Amino acid sequence: MTNETNYDTMFGKMAIEQGLCTDEELRRSLKELESRSKINPIILKDLMIELGYVTRSQAERLKSSIHESKDAAHQIPGYKILGKLGAGAMAIVYKARQLSLNRIVAIKILPKRFSENPEYVERFYKEGQAAGRLNHPNIVQAIDVGEAGGYHYFVMEYVEGKTIADDLVAGKIFTEQEALEIIIQVAKALAHAHACNLIHRDVKPKNIMISTNGAVKLADMGLARGTTDIEAAQSEEGKAYGTPYYIAPEQIRGKIDIDGRADIYGLGATFYHMVTNRVPFMAENSADVMRKHLREKLIPPDHINTALSAGVSEVIETMMAKRRENRYNNVEEVLVDLESLRDGKPPIVAHRKFDVDDFAQLEEGEAVEITDKNSSEETLAQYRMAILILSSAAAIFLLIIILLIALR
Ligand SMILES: Nc1ncnc2c1ncn2[C@@H]1O[C@H](COP(=O)(O)OP(=O)(O)O)[C@@H](O)[C@H]1O
Ligand SMILES: [Mg+2]
Repeated sequence: MTNETNYDTMFGKMAIEQGLCTDEELRRSLKELESRSKINPIILKDLMIELGYVTRSQAERLKSSIHESKDAAHQIPGYKILGKLGAGAMAIVYKARQLSLNRIVAIKILPKRFSENPEYVERFYKEGQAAGRLNHPNIVQAIDVGEAGGYHYFVMEYVEGKTIADDLVAGKIFTEQEALEIIIQVAKALAHAHACNLIHRDVKPKNIMISTNGAVKLADMGLARGTTDIEAAQSEEGKAYGTPYYIAPEQIRGKIDIDGRADIYGLGATFYHMVTNRVPFMAENSADVMRKHLREKLIPPDHINTALSAGVSEVIETMMAKRRENRYNNVEEVLVDLESLRDGKPPIVAHRKFDVDDFAQLEEGEAVEITDKNSSEETLAQYRMAILILSSAAAIFLLIIILLIALR
């Protein structure tokens, strides 16, 4: 059930999403908060400063951005704010009543820094309009976009329920059939959006909602991200906003011609997480997660959860091929295989694909934005080895010459 969130929860979530503290630090703070609640109550912000998990200036900045966003929400004409629904990597979502139609909606308030970028604002309205034209039972309906108090907002259908991420955090491992039922519906939502020339770019468990009556809804469709995805994943200080566990390699490379195949990768990564309860690539920080998306071979999901069929593993691996040429060409092809699996048959399209992932690094003309520490270390090691061999050869050669001269 989607509960309305209190201020402390909001503060904690945003502190994590913005990379100010770790999950563990927040867990410890919440435990301490609980134990002090009866004798000496304190708010989470002050406690986290006291424990040294966030600095005073970080905490104050976060507090004022939460308050400012709330003030802006109250200034949106035609809507009455009822409470907070949640906070994500870059925004706060409120529950509100749309006064004209007397219905409950969800309003997302974007961070102010987006409003300062005219290119972003243009895309925000363009993609918002495109999303407004979509009409699909598996897509959270876009209702309105606008600006109030210097903040841009996005009004959408309110979904009473939970996200797939909530289940995953609670430790759920979806059975193959359960996951297929959900992934098929999201794939249908994507097929509809792609047919209308709209790419989601941020398919992930947190953006898939399950309503209390069981409907599957893809959220944030048409919510334009930063100019490049890499920009969206990183803040000005190089701190990651939310860990990019589901991002496609070409989005990491900063390609501008992102197409539907990026969504196929994100959906494949989500599928992987659902049936294994593990993200495809885990690392300490965002840069390392991204490096792994680019270079590390995926552990097949049926190696982690042996109850999975070989077919489902093959489909996920094809969806997550590093080179988009090796993925399914479009979501319709994915649906053919997903439906085949659901009916207990082997995948058809994946069998025809040839996996040449290992040659991905040889792809030419692609600027890799992240400097790859591992590969430069490898090159250095190769240089060292070459120098060692050459100098040994020179030494042996010299020794032979000396011997020859001495023996004369
Ligand atoms: N349309 C909606 N209806 C109800 N709750 C929503 C809706 N959209 C988002 N939420 C809630 O708000 C939270 C934050 O959403 P968002 O800012 O998109 O971040 P993220 O997708 O990273 O979780 C979500 O996790 C969800 O719980
Ligand atoms: Mg979202």
